[in-house]
Amino acid sequence: MQLSWSHVVLNVRDTEKILDFYTETLGFSVSERGPLAENGPEIVFLSQDADEHHQLAVVNTRKDEDPSNSLNHLAFRVGSFDEVKTVKEKLEAADTKYRPLSHGNTLSLYFADPEGNGLEVFWDTPWHVSQPEGAIWDANLDEEQALAWVEETFKQRPVFVKREDADSEFVNRP
Ligand SMILES: [Fe+2]
Repeated sequence: MQLSWSHVVLNVRDTEKILDFYTETLGFSVSERGPLAENGPEIVFLSQDADEHHQLAVVNTRKDEDPSNSLNHLAFRVGSFDEVKTVKEKLEAADTKYRPLSHGNTLSLYFADPEGNGLEVFWDTPWHVSQPEGAIWDANLDEEQALAWVEETFKQRPVFVKREDADSEFVNRP
């Protein structure tokens, strides 16, 4: 048996505000929407993957005003360093604070949606690095500078090897 990850559903207070963020800032498309039952709360399905009807869905059921408390973060992989930069620019345009954090094996941006749900967008670096690991990186660096910084910062860690040379079965091999 192998379970393959498909989607997450978030309970939200303000669907339109949330949708604006996930579509305009993060580039999701609404695949379908409708009430869960007659007069039930609305569910909106979102995806960026043609093979997934929804990678994310939001249900308008949240009543409390508290910040999200059990979700740590949702993480999305992008295929290039330039896309990390694009997300950074989109977040800046949306006045959304972000924290650039690298796990050595990633260059990531951490931020929150308008209801405080944690998010990460990351690009895989060429290295496998023993985890957990994290250091703030300068998101204004270009790709070459950022990779040089990753190498300099993480090369002394217990495991720092090219992904293709890693013997962990849990390394994502390009
Ligand atoms: Fe993460």
